[in-house]
Amino acid sequence: MSSVSRSTDVNCPRFRVRPPANWMNDPNGPFRWGGRYHLFYQHNPDAPVHANVHWGHASSPDLAHWDDHGIALRPTPDGPDEAGCWSGCVVDDGGVPTAVYSGIDHNHQGLSTICLAVAEDDDLRTWKQLPVPVVAGPPPGLDVTMFRDPFVFRHAGRRWALMGAGHADGTPSVLVYDCEDLYDWRFAGVLLDGRDAAAVRAFGSRSIGWECPQLWETPGGDRVLAVALWDGDPLSTAYLTGRLIQLQEGELRFAAGGAGGPLDLGRDFYAPSVLQDTESGRALLWGWSWESRPPEEAARAGWSGVLTAPRVMDTHEDGTLRVVPAPELELLRAAVPFTAAPGSHRPLPLAYDLLVTARSAATLSLLRAASGAELTVRLDPVSGTVTLDRTAWPRDRPDGSAPLVLPTTPGETLTVRILVDGSLLELFAGDRTTATERVYQRADDTAELAVSGTDVEVTGWELVPPNPA
Ligand code: FRU
Repeated sequence: MSSVSRSTDVNCPRFRVRPPANWMNDPNGPFRWGGRYHLFYQHNPDAPVHANVHWGHASSPDLAHWDDHGIALRPTPDGPDEAGCWSGCVVDDGGVPTAVYSGIDHNHQGLSTICLAVAEDDDLRTWKQLPVPVVAGPPPGLDVTMFRDPFVFRHAGRRWALMGAGHADGTPSVLVYDCEDLYDWRFAGVLLDGRDAAAVRAFGSRSIGWECPQLWETPGGDRVLAVALWDGDPLSTAYLTGRLIQLQEGELRFAAGGAGGPLDLGRDFYAPSVLQDTESGRALLWGWSWESRPPEEAARAGWSGVLTAPRVMDTHEDGTLRVVPAPELELLRAAVPFTAAPGSHRPLPLAYDLLVTARSAATLSLLRAASGAELTVRLDPVSGTVTLDRTAWPRDRPDGSAPLVLPTTPGETLTVRILVDGSLLELFAGDRTTATERVYQRADDTAELAVSGTDVEVTGWELVPPNPA
């Protein structure tokens, strides 16, 4: 990525998508065009705080190496997006790449309009933002108090769009529109709401709004619906597996099929975006990892937020998620791997990819504090659990820093992948559960790998080459 020097900031990710400086939140509109992957993101180019939201833009030939291209969409003075170009998606509208996004004006109170912008060049660098929204506000009669984040998808030969919503009585929902003609939208009902028993089981009952709804189809034909749970503040993310049902009167519903739960068990993961990549037949997903350090520290650092590495999303036979890092991430691995035998220590680089296979209980230590406390990942094949203990690196958020237990399948072997890029830590337990957390190194910490256990193999790769500082 470009410009601002990050050479002295050990906590700054160098490989994942983020702007050169200042604020970012949600990934928006992952899109394949002209032989490249394009990814947009919520971005304040002027300060590391959530305000004056633009769309930033990055692209990659291979999902591993990214170039940042600066601003794609910006608030239009006196326009429907004068106070912010909030989240949305990008679609190929008959050969015209078109951004479908939430326009926010000065009086918005959480209700957006649905705006369009059309790309003016094949590199998707310049966009024409249309002055009149295609949807002026929520449908009448439903007491909608939160309305944003259009997500366009195809079903039964037509184009549809989801909208994240919340209602005056505190019920969250996903609304759906028929937008076969992107310039002429028709409301097609409540796809799912917080009164649905399966939704309560999978999403809990704390949220009053569901942000950034995403829907994808797995190679086996399951549909997965994911939402970002919001109670006035962002909480976490969750998914449900099921299918779409088209009612006679043209409405669309989501019928949950039993499996569901948190999308990522970490505490620093929110508002993911999915790319239904028809070329490779995969669903790829990126999430926003927010800062969990005090805001003054982010202000001093001059940047806030990063996207996760891309994940390939599928389901197991029982409908639960199957999640693995995109194989293209292996392009970032240094030619010569490193290892650490049980009982030995070795320094860790700032960005690395670790593959751990344990046939009996094993513990990895990744970071040591001056006090001697360690950040550890414990693998227990018998119970099929992976435990991340980062209690000596406290998070500055209400949900705390207690050890996280990731369940996976008990068995003879347990495999864990750990992706670290500066302060961004992504843990993949088998192909079942993930945890995204931010861990900030302090000046007197030692980044060293130590392994204990009797039957464990660890292979690591430094990530190379770093993007230009
Ligand atoms: C989720 C979210 C979206 C909104 C955007 C604004 O993090 O609140 O609902 O469109 O961020 O930046």
